[in-house]
Amino acid sequence: MRRIGFAFAILVAAGLVGWLLTTPQKIAESALPDHGPDPEAGERVFWAGGCASCHASSVDGRRARGDARLLLGGGLELDTPYGVFRVPNISSDVEDGIGAWSTAEFVNAMQAGVSPAGRHYYPSFPYTSYVKMPVTDVMDLKAFLDTLPGVEGRVAPHTLEFPWTLRRGIGLWKRLYLDPSPVLSVDASEPLVERGRALVEGIGHCGECHTPRDRFGGLLTERWLAGAPDLEGSGRVPNITPAGKTISGWSVRDLVYYFESGFTPEFDTVGGSMVAVQENLAELPRSDLEAVAAYLKAIPAVD
Ligand code: HEC
Ligand code: HEC
Repeated sequence: MRRIGFAFAILVAAGLVGWLLTTPQKIAESALPDHGPDPEAGERVFWAGGCASCHASSVDGRRARGDARLLLGGGLELDTPYGVFRVPNISSDVEDGIGAWSTAEFVNAMQAGVSPAGRHYYPSFPYTSYVKMPVTDVMDLKAFLDTLPGVEGRVAPHTLEFPWTLRRGIGLWKRLYLDPSPVLSVDASEPLVERGRALVEGIGHCGECHTPRDRFGGLLTERWLAGAPDLEGSGRVPNITPAGKTISGWSVRDLVYYFESGFTPEFDTVGGSMVAVQENLAELPRSDLEAVAAYLKAIPAVD
């Protein structure tokens, strides 16, 4: 009897600790800096962040291109080993999108992975990268999203396998993998490399595809950008450290040209899930693309 009582007490204690450890942690409105958001700067953040690759409403069942990428009605299905995620409407529609959200609510989604209702988001929304962005960039991005048209209609819920249906468990995962600090320490005397780091590690979330994951889905930072299985297509996402089979021979100019045009120095064209990334990168000023290239040249080669 005493043993049962003891086991029960442990269970209750474990449950309580589990509950506390998984409680969504919000960023307080008062913690936001005094910053007048700039929608033009926000547009750059939008393209660098690839929001449209996932959130643009598809056109006749196909991926949106050109200006249609600014209609953020969602609906894209991400077919993953955990089930199917359906990307939500983040247009400025006040009913179906996020038009009614405050800046603080938006910052919480982007950097704490917490919804206005206080629930965890799944990391299929790459906030583990966006947490590394300066919060002022996130505020600018919200100001830009507010300028885009509203799109009506809500997206159907995700279809996930148990236990992934339990959002609360993501709280534990976040304790392991949600980290605002930079991945690599780069030479801070090189502003171009530093800017490239912000673009690649943070907003550009390049590591989400180019870095392999451990069995809990966290990025293996010791193999940062060293290539990974392609979760969206088939085959592999290439190594883009200086040891990468293809890009080891590319100059900074070759890299910038690839980001601008989608052509490799061998006159191959970009393929797979990189197509949408490249189309977004092409919207950025050349100086940003040079920064990305400088960072890729400066990081350690990983075989
Ligand atoms: C790889 C695909 C992907 C990319 C890229 C992406 N998102 Fe999302 N986003 C998602 C998914 C999936 C969800 C739903 C997460 C959930 O239900 O827990 C989501 C949810 C959100 C939400 C919460 C919406 C709601 O109704 O609660 C916001 C806000 C959001 N994303 C903004 C952005 C912005 C801004 C960007 C670009 C900086 C971006 N996302 C880039 C996949 C993506
Ligand atoms: C959605 C997944 C995804 C994201 C995010 C992504 N990439 Fe890629 N990347 C790929 C795939 C897949 C390829 C292979 C393309 C091909 O086969 O033509 C690739 C190819 C490349 C190449 C050419 C390398 C080679 O060997 O052909 C470079 C350089 C590159 N990516 C840089 C980046 C940078 C910089 C970012 C962030 C701004 C980024 N990628 C984000 C999936 C991604």
